[in-house]
Amino acid sequence: MSKVTVVGAGNVGATCANVLALNEVANEVVLLDVKEGVAEGKAMDIMQTAQLIGFDTVVTGTTNDYAQTANSDVVVITSGIPRKPGMTREELIGVNAGIVKSVAGNILKYSPNAIIVVISNPMDTMTYLSLKSLGLPKNRIIGMGGALDSSRFKYFLSQKLGANANEVEGIVIGGHGDTTMIPLARLATYKGIPVSEFLSKEEIDEVVKSTMVGGATLTGLLGTSAWMAPGAAGSFVVEAILRDQKKIVTSCVLLEGEYGQNDIAIGVPVVLGKNGVEKIIELKLNAEEKALFEKSAEAVRSTNAALYEIKAL
Ligand code: LAC
Repeated sequence: MSKVTVVGAGNVGATCANVLALNEVANEVVLLDVKEGVAEGKAMDIMQTAQLIGFDTVVTGTTNDYAQTANSDVVVITSGIPRKPGMTREELIGVNAGIVKSVAGNILKYSPNAIIVVISNPMDTMTYLSLKSLGLPKNRIIGMGGALDSSRFKYFLSQKLGANANEVEGIVIGGHGDTTMIPLARLATYKGIPVSEFLSKEEIDEVVKSTMVGGATLTGLLGTSAWMAPGAAGSFVVEAILRDQKKIVTSCVLLEGEYGQNDIAIGVPVVLGKNGVEKIIELKLNAEEKALFEKSAEAVRSTNAALYEIKAL
């Protein structure tokens, strides 16, 4: 029996719970929210699709009763406010830090062995906050950003290539921010062939740019943060863990010397399996990529520093 809790029944949380159910990733999914009735309502709505779609996962909802989340294997934290058009993810820190810290503390009381997947923004800093405030081993706290950003990278590559997105491979490392993410175009492939065989430098640069502002573009169109791909990416990470898939997924994890970094959580490729982060893959970055990674880490670090200013740490 496997159990997943998704905290936050907003757009991202509810979509994540929905995709977990559609793909029968867990036997049981609990959706929790502070807003009276919202989690119960969204869970019931999802369950009323079960016989239409034919899944067996049982989704329930609760208004802030953490006892119902007890003994979860994986907990996904999506709580907090989303972006409005023109806002950066970093601007959410003041409100979201307090929320994420209290949610993570409550979760651990009932699921002391859970692996925690952080989606709340600014995601790299919320992951760092969870790592610092919970004191869990680093394999058990994973920030979800790279799975989403890499998926957007593959989408934009496939559009430019005129290809099926499933034929395209590519990863995005660094922070989950409009200016901090690093789509690694040099390593991207179309069916194993470097994309540079098909696309000009200008075309690749356009793809990189679209990927970096992928979330902001959607926020502009939708009036709030995106949720379909973020929710599905959350489920994708949970699935890799629960099914012990040993998949390589770019994830925000604590670095202790890898990539020349310490005391920071930032996106790098890792192997995900039943123990959470099972291995950090250290890529041999070229000089340009290394410089971008260092700049990205510096920006994430300065957002992390705000945690101390607002006394969240
Ligand atoms: C995005 C938000 C969820 O990238 O961070 O859409």
